Amino acid sequence: MTDLRIKIGDITFSNPVFTASGTFGYGTEVSDLTDVSKLGAIVTKSVTLFPREGNPPPRVVETPAGMINSIGLANVGVERYIREMIPLYDNIGTKVIMNIAGTTLEEYCDVLEKVEVISSNICGYEINISCPNVKKGGMQFGVDSSMTEALTAEMRKRTERLIIMKLSPNVTDITSIAKAAENGGADAVSAINTVVGMSIDSETGKSQIYTTYGGLSGPAIKPIGLATVHKVYQSVNIPVIGLGGITTGLDAVEYLLAGAVAVQVGTATFRHADAGEQIINELHQFGDSKSIEKISSLTGAVKTYTK
Ligand code: DHB
Repeated sequence: MTDLRIKIGDITFSNPVFTASGTFGYGTEVSDLTDVSKLGAIVTKSVTLFPREGNPPPRVVETPAGMINSIGLANVGVERYIREMIPLYDNIGTKVIMNIAGTTLEEYCDVLEKVEVISSNICGYEINISCPNVKKGGMQFGVDSSMTEALTAEMRKRTERLIIMKLSPNVTDITSIAKAAENGGADAVSAINTVVGMSIDSETGKSQIYTTYGGLSGPAIKPIGLATVHKVYQSVNIPVIGLGGITTGLDAVEYLLAGAVAVQVGTATFRHADAGEQIINELHQFGDSKSIEKISSLTGAVKTYTK
């Protein structure tokens, strides 16, 4: 049987299939729908310093081979997250990566510090520097290499847990942002966050999303994700976590070949809450059918025509 274990920093994960932020709540709501203990890790939705209502509706619309969302980082805020969610992680049976968002550098630091001073089994932080749907913060960091490096360094100073910077595809050169994250001391980067998109109802002439633009996810963005992961993999020496439109085990294999050590599954869980579990089973089938000893041997093994 193929060994699905993978390593990021000092942490070994039982398999390379994680949930994607914003698609699996805080990881505590879905236990009736799927066995979360099977997953390599859960990545929570973004948590901010103060509670957020998010954007007005409509916030989600289905599009060809995907969906657009503009939730506006709705969440309970870090204080309630610490009180109500973190205690539930003691019995969750898998690793938890907390996603953090903020509007200023200080806000990101405050959220992380509040979690660092309590005892918890959170194994790392994914830092959202790529939300396309809020006016202040988020993306402002993810499109600027010096801000990315400064924010990563501030996070690094404050924790020994994993720091994963989540990159935006909505930039001119994602490799310079990835290098900035590496220089700032990140353990890994995840790519890609959603691609800015728009949907219009031709009948009514109305925009389908309150904020006009939103983040496109799902199979429609898989080729963008693959190209981005491959470029980032070639430009940094830290692990890349790949995401964007992964629906099947073979999609996950493609991301591993492009250079990812692990993958995140998001939009697919809206259709089947147990998409992650199915993808793990399909990775086992693929590995066994090809007699692959370790799934980690696939990382970056794509055969390209040049180089
Ligand atoms: C939201 C945040 C994201 O990072 C993203 O990719 C899409 C949507 C949001 O909360 O609106």
